[in-house]
Formats: sequence, C-alpha cells, structure tokens
Amino acid sequence: MSGAISSESRASSSRAMNFIEIVPVSKIQSHTRYLFTLRSGEGTYRSLLLFRLSTAPVAQSSDSVSTEPSWPDNDVSHIAEQLYVMESACPHLGADMSHADIEECETGIVAVCPWHRYDFDMRSGKSDTGLRACVYQVEVRRSAIDTETLSVWIKSPEEANFWRLVEFRPVSEEFADPPPAPKETISSIDIPDLITLPEDIEPAKNPPKTLIQWAVLILNTSHPQLKVERTRHAVNMFRSGKLSSIGRGPSAPKPPDVPPREDQMRFVDANHAAKRKSRAAMLHALANIEQWAIDLAWDAIARFGPANPTLPHQFFSDFTKIALDEAKHFSLLLSRLSALGTPYGVLPIHAALWQSATETAQSVRSRLAIVHLVHEARGLDVNPATIAKFAKQGDTESVAALTIIHNDEVTHVTAGHRWFTFVCAEQGVDPVPTFREEVKRHFSGRLKGPFNMIDREKAGLTRDFYEDLAGEMGKPHESNKAFVIKPVKPTEGTV
Ligand code: FES
Repeated sequence: MSGAISSESRASSSRAMNFIEIVPVSKIQSHTRYLFTLRSGEGTYRSLLLFRLSTAPVAQSSDSVSTEPSWPDNDVSHIAEQLYVMESACPHLGADMSHADIEECETGIVAVCPWHRYDFDMRSGKSDTGLRACVYQVEVRRSAIDTETLSVWIKSPEEANFWRLVEFRPVSEEFADPPPAPKETISSIDIPDLITLPEDIEPAKNPPKTLIQWAVLILNTSHPQLKVERTRHAVNMFRSGKLSSIGRGPSAPKPPDVPPREDQMRFVDANHAAKRKSRAAMLHALANIEQWAIDLAWDAIARFGPANPTLPHQFFSDFTKIALDEAKHFSLLLSRLSALGTPYGVLPIHAALWQSATETAQSVRSRLAIVHLVHEARGLDVNPATIAKFAKQGDTESVAALTIIHNDEVTHVTAGHRWFTFVCAEQGVDPVPTFREEVKRHFSGRLKGPFNMIDREKAGLTRDFYEDLAGEMGKPHESNKAFVIKPVKPTEGTV
C-alpha cells in the first residue's frame, strides 16, 4: 500500500458551495477503496471511505492532466456515478466498513457490514434495520486549485466548519486494480518472504477470540517476524468481520508490563545506541523503534480498551491500522537491512520508547500525549534529514521505504491528536494546556526543534502545543497539585 499522499496542496474548501475538494480523479486509479480523514476548524474528525465501484479505471489516462479537460460531460457524470462516500464506522456497533461487501440489489447498491451483515444503501444510507449510515453526496468538478484537473468533491459535513483533508490513502492492496501500485511506492521494494516462523500464526490451542486477546498474544510474541505475521492476520480478521468482538469486558487479558524480546537481542543504553553512523546502523535503529511501535499500538488497545469504556470503535480501527502500518514499516526496514547484509538483531537495541509507555501506562490521555504527540511528532521533525542522508548516498530504495514510513507517521500523529482531543473533550479540559501539563509531568527535557511545522500542522499540532516546552518528569512542580485525571463514566453498548 502506498502511504498517505500529500493532501495539503489539493484539499481546499468551497464553503460557499458547501463542498470540499478531496482528490484529483487521476489519483484514484490504482484502488477501488480509499480511506480519508477530515478535520474541522474546531478540531473534530470524520473518517470516511471513498468507493470506486467500477474495476476499470475511471479515466483513460492515469496522470496526464492535459487529457482531463477534453473528457465529455457524460464521461464526467459517468465517473461521478461510480463514486460513493460513507462514514467508515458502521452505525450498528461501529465496525470498520472498509472491507464491507458491495452488492447490487433491486433498490440500488448496498454496502454489507462484515460484522453482522446489515446492509446500507450507498446513496441514501438506509437499511431495513432502521439504522442509517452517514453517506455523502459526491460530485466530480474542476479543481479549485488547478482548473485543468478534475477532482472528486463531497458535500461538507454539517456539524462544524472549515473542514480540511488530513489523510487520504488506499484501503489495502486487496483492493488494488491490476496493474497495482505505481513503481515508486511499496511495490518497488522487495520484501523478502519471512523466515520459518517458530510457532503457528494462529495458535491451535486456545486461539484468541477477541481483538484484545489477539493484542495480548502479539505483545507476548518475542519473535519479530511472528509478531508481524500475527499483526497482519489479526487486523485482517478484524476488518473482514471474522473477529467481531473487541472483548473489553472484565475477563479481558492483561498486557505485559514490557513486551519480551528474543534472548539473543542485546540491549544497550539509548544514548549509547544513538551514536550510529552507517546506513545499516541507522536502519537497524529505526527497525528497533518500529518493533516497539507495533507493540505500542497493540498496548493502546489492550491496556486502554477495558479501562476506558467510552472509547468508540473507531479508536480500535485506528490503532489496528497503526499496528498494521508499523508492521509494514518493520518489514520494509528488514528488507533494506537484508540488502545491506546486516540482519536484524546483529546490532544492539534499546528500549527507550517503552520507558515512556511505562510512564504513561495509567492514562490513555498521557499515553497519547507522550507517545504520539511528543515521540512520533519528533519523528516528523527528523525524518526529512534522515531521508536526505540516504539520498546523498544514492540509496534510492531506502529513500523510498523511509518516505513511505514518514507519510504514514503523519497519519499516526493525526490519530494521536484525534484521540487526545477526544479524551480531553470527554474530560472537559482544553487540549493545549492539558498537553503541556502532560509533557511537564511525563517527559524529561526540552522538546527539541527545529520543528517540521508543516507536517505537524497537517497532523493537527499547532505551535501552541509544543513551542517553548520542557518536561519536568521527576521534579516536583506546582501544576502537579491541580493536575487530576478525571474518571470516565462507562456507557452502554460498548463491545
Ligand atoms: S452490522 Fe455493522 S457492526 Fe453490526
């Protein structure tokens, strides 16, 4: 799957017409399903799915802007007829609709939820069950940015203003049209077959039955490639409805304090490990971080799911997507390490990232602030320089892998911002001062610049979040006295 494409330049809002420009038609050639996220000026989010029903490309020319204006009007309306947009969460219990079956029936086209098979008309959102999915009117018009380009526009959500596109990506390779993704994306990178796994991906004895059981199994899996395969398997089952319970009741298993690593892995102090210079050493260090990042995504699900019953289904969809992305990143880096003759595990690793996980284990709000809005956001700052180093050495394959990783990480910081602001709204606190207090309490040292303000802003992190801020972890300070995490009341209907 390619990473999120840059949305900054092409997202524009036409508030007078109440439509939002989403993406050029030429950019929806490779797949039939796309996931995208909108953020309002008030900081609220919408996760939506764009379905392109025809398996044939919607335009004859994939990227040639010059041919687009010559399309006859009936071609334009034909393109629009193939496009449907709906909320990504099922209105029944919130299952991810990205893997819904699409079926034609007497009344029109319906999307069938993978969890309980309720079907929803893709134009009206109606279902025989009385539930109604949120669908959006789609039009194909000239771009507001470049009038020679045809773009997909959707009717703006009504509850807020100033919506902008913050993420747009194909759902998965499963929905890729032949020929698949363009050469410069992941398909150009040779990901080797995984070596023989030490155990079955799905244990024959007591296989996990819920998402949280899978999360805990994966957290306790020390073999890195088995961790990757189990992540792919669990997310696939969750999306396709074969795993239709989150399982956050009282019998949910507990995640380990620290996910285990293979016996032969050598741990060193993070400061020592940071003195890396060669390409292989840099890639090895990044692979180590990605392995912890897979665990962090599953830990968020297993640790905070049962403890925070108001977290909606979308939280679990987002974190399964992050886990899958991190598994992909780890595999990409393993592939590059293998090409450079340095297998993963031959160099020492560190566990600095997990220290922050331990520090924030008691609060989803603290975890989101420190792991996603401090550590992952710092990745956005440093990735461009890392990519430039590999480019300077002519390692174009590593550049391709690291660019995919960087684009995905923007969406992970976006998810961190989304759920941090959600939790703040639930607790009735202002996100910016709350974030700054979280950093003071749970982070040590100054947030270092220079900051990648453009990508931080894409992810929702405005400068007032992070500028002139230092963590005081370990030091007593006045604000600690007033800093109380309010309990969240349980609600009914959580899965
Ligand atoms: S029918 Fe979609 S979650 Fe039940």
